[in-house]
Order: sequence, then C-alpha cells, then structure tokens
Amino acid sequence: MTTQLPPGLLTLADHEARAAQAMDPAAWAYIAGGAGDELTLRANAEAWPALTLWPRVLQPLAGGHTRVRLAGRELAHPILLAPWAHQRLAHPDGEVASALAAAAQGAGYVLATQSSVPLETVARAVLGEPGRGPLWFQLYWQADRGFNLALAERARAAGFEALVLTVDAPVSGVRDRERRAGFRLPPGMGSAHLQGAPAAPPAPGTYCAGLPAHAPSWDDVAWLQAQTPLPLWLKGVLHPQDARQAAALGVAGLIVSNHGGRTLDTAVATATALPRVRAAVGDALPLVVDGGIRRGTDVLKAIALGANAVMVGRPAAWGLANAGALGVAHVIRLLRDELEMAMALTGCRSLTEATPALLTN
Ligand code: GLV
Repeated sequence: MTTQLPPGLLTLADHEARAAQAMDPAAWAYIAGGAGDELTLRANAEAWPALTLWPRVLQPLAGGHTRVRLAGRELAHPILLAPWAHQRLAHPDGEVASALAAAAQGAGYVLATQSSVPLETVARAVLGEPGRGPLWFQLYWQADRGFNLALAERARAAGFEALVLTVDAPVSGVRDRERRAGFRLPPGMGSAHLQGAPAAPPAPGTYCAGLPAHAPSWDDVAWLQAQTPLPLWLKGVLHPQDARQAAALGVAGLIVSNHGGRTLDTAVATATALPRVRAAVGDALPLVVDGGIRRGTDVLKAIALGANAVMVGRPAAWGLANAGALGVAHVIRLLRDELEMAMALTGCRSLTEATPALLTN
C-alpha cells in the first residue's frame, strides 16, 4: 500500500493540527507537551514571529540559493531534523522513515540515543543516498564513561559523522501534560541503544543527591572529546558564558536549544539566546538553533541572528504521524520553499546576506 499525503496540508501548522487528531492522545501528549506550564514551549514559538523583517526591494536575485556550509560540507539548505525519542510512536517505520526523508530532501538528520530503531539500521538505510545531509548521533550521557564511549564508537563504526551531546537535561523536566495523560511507552518499544546501560547507583536522600550526580560535567566533555575521533557538538547551550567555555574546549559546534521547552520551564527562548551566544563566541564556531521554528521566515531570522543552520523536532513528528517518510519530506520541503520565498521577498540572494540588519528589533 502506498502512503499518500492527506489533502489540505499547506503549512507546518496544518501538519500539527492533523497529527493531533491522528495520534494516540497519550503519545501526542508526550510529543507535543513541554515542561511545567509550557511557558518556554510557547515562548520559543512566539519569539520568531515577534521579530519583524525589514525587507529590501529591487535587489539582484538571479542565481539565488539556500546553500550553507556546515561541518565542512556544503548543504543544499540549512534545515536539520532534531533528535527526538521513540519515533515509532508516530509511525511504524519510525526513525528509518524520518532519516530517509531527511536524506531525500538534503536535510541533516540527528538520531536520538532513545531511538526505537538501532543506529546501524538507520545508517544502512541512508548512507548511500546521494545528496543527503549530515548524519549525526545524539548522546544522552549514561552513568558509566565506558558505556558512553562504546556507544560513540558504535555510532562512528556505523558511519555517523558527529556526536551531539545533550547537556541541558541532567534530569528530565517536570512533564505535567505527559503525566496527566498517563503516557507509557508501548510494550516492545524500548530505547534501542540503552540495553545493558549501567543503572545509576542508588543515592539515598533528596532527589538532588541522586540522579544529577551522574550528569555529565565539563570534565566529561573534555574526556569524551579526547577519546572520540568524531566531532563533538553540545546541544542545549543557552548562556553566553557556557558558550565561551565550550568554544575554549574546542568543540565542533553548539546547538542553541532549550530542549523544545521540555526541560526547564521559563528558560529563555532560543531566539533571545541565539544573538548573545553568537556575540560570545564570535564568527568561528558553528551554531545551530532549534525551538519553535515553524515558518521559512523563522529560518531566515535565525540565520540573520547568527545561526548557521536550524533544527526542527516536533514538525518532523507531525509529518511522520501524518504520512510516514512522505510526511516528513513534505514538512522539510514546505519549510525550505517558504525560506526561499522569504529570501526573495527580503532581497537576499544567499543566506550570507541574512544579517541582523534584516530585523527591525
Ligand atoms: C527526550 O529527550 C525528551 O525530551 O523526551
């Protein structure tokens, strides 16, 4: 049976509305929800549209393109798919479908540690795709350094091209919507890479005395960097001081992110943090930003504020729920087409012309 794109999907918001109806309500609460009162979740999505564009007219547009350089490669456009867990919740083809869609659309793909499909299966499916974007592996730090290194090595051996260490979630956020919905992973859908992961030793006392003791530290970042030949990105950096510290360690790049509003509620919106992080690290360090990017104009604004590329998470989940790989490909395509339109209408022939001068505030 061939999957068809349901009619009427013209925007990412259309994908969201349809996926909300199509998905199991508890799985939807897990994917759509954020931490606490979801203020950061909303702030992310409201911050991009609140920035206003100051278009130039009569600019030369012939030969315009969306190409960017990232991680030593030229990419067709600056859109990557963010790591998000348990993608088979949205569609039986899970991460394989998302990664194939990304590859077909020239988008980068970041596979989550908590993937429902083993990393080797995903790599085999996409590595041969001509025109694919970068293939990266997101690492959730586990309590044992050796386990982390073995997982990193497994990703490298399978063909993954960088590691993305998530640093903003020493504990999971207070996910009220998810808890109210009674979300549980369906039987048989574990994390493909965490079989045999060492349990954190039990710590008596308060919550703070327990889990966070096993959270990664700057020393762990330096250690991992020394152990793995893969470029190491940090995901979840918002504070300029952290950005400087990461740059001093020589990381490959930063992902300016608040985990889609899923960890610390009332954390700063990424559109607010991005220009400060860019100012802190100068031009040399690549920055990717995520959080609330839903329109081509949002992508353009992110680039204008100093990002080299953007990532989207939930929109890919919506596309996946709506039409498997085809749905994810459609989401990427919509965003890219809107970006091209926004560039033409602001007088940008290439994304190197998207600077803070494009924004009025
Ligand atoms: C995992 O990273 C999640 O946000 O659910």
